Amino acid sequence: MDIKTYMKEARNITDARLKELLPAETAYPEVIHQAMAYSVFAGGKRFRPMLCLAACETVCGDWKPSLDAACAMECIHTYSLIHDDLPGMDDDDYRRGKLTNHKVFGEGMAILAGDALLTYAFEILAGMGSETNSRQMLQIIREVSKASGTAGMIGGQVVDIISEQTKPTAELLQYIHNNKTGALIVASVRMGAILGGADETQLAALTEYAHQLGLAFQITDDILDVVGDESKIGKPVGSDEKNEKATFPALFGLEQSRLMADEAVQAAVTALEPFGEKADMLVQLAQYLLSRES
Ligand code: IPE
Ligand code: IPE
Ligand code: MG
Ligand code: MG
Ligand code: MG
Repeated sequence: MDIKTYMKEARNITDARLKELLPAETAYPEVIHQAMAYSVFAGGKRFRPMLCLAACETVCGDWKPSLDAACAMECIHTYSLIHDDLPGMDDDDYRRGKLTNHKVFGEGMAILAGDALLTYAFEILAGMGSETNSRQMLQIIREVSKASGTAGMIGGQVVDIISEQTKPTAELLQYIHNNKTGALIVASVRMGAILGGADETQLAALTEYAHQLGLAFQITDDILDVVGDESKIGKPVGSDEKNEKATFPALFGLEQSRLMADEAVQAAVTALEPFGEKADMLVQLAQYLLSRES
């Protein structure tokens, strides 16, 4: 299948399931459910769900066992974006082509919508219990918790904030990127693989793939923050410069950053060699990063 078609299908499958899973906007207290739905259905790429589904399919030939886990990851990712945009963090006004959550619902409600999406992700995961064996359930809950916490996304966001207005070392920058963005990407792939029944060797190969992919993803995000087209990325260009963020282009320049993203994508693809053709979609999802415009 061609990658564009695959991405569109994965997006549609994820969106349809998210619509079923999320609380109705008419349920009391309506405003919080509206705030949650506003950001979840604002038009994200669904890259993490896609990775989860594709990893599961690579391992067992079917994406279905991983669908709810893929949706839970998107809830956590969306929560991280709502909070990332808050005045106390990156202070941005646009996300996914629309006003940011706090601009529409106010700061208090945006904080709560983020909190609610994080919590709801675990409710979704717990609801998978009837069809997933308990060993796998515990394993994926551990994956998500760790990846979202201080040894993952939160840790990365913390160091991202405390490194503003500093010239970081390459190691520090790697730490920020691997954690604020890489951790949820690694967890998405690993959860899909676990739910597909991956053995230890398969899981290790897919983890290395996702680690490299996560780094490439944030390097290309940093590049788009400099040279992207606002109408395509759906968020402000120049946000990193405004906040004097520690980014790849700031430390290495654009050209070197592009080479580094390229290298990480090559390493990601190499890690998939043991899977042969079965990993075709994961390979293409990695290559897509190098030409992405949003
Ligand atoms: C943006 O993620 C935030 C980062 C971690 C770089 P995406 O580029 O996946 O954003 P959406 O989900 O498509 O809006
Ligand atoms: C954010 O990184 C990573 C998250 C955990 C949300 P950025 O701050 O670069 O993400 P964007 O560019 O605002 O999407
Ligand atoms: Mg940020
Ligand atoms: Mg930001
Ligand atoms: Mg960015």
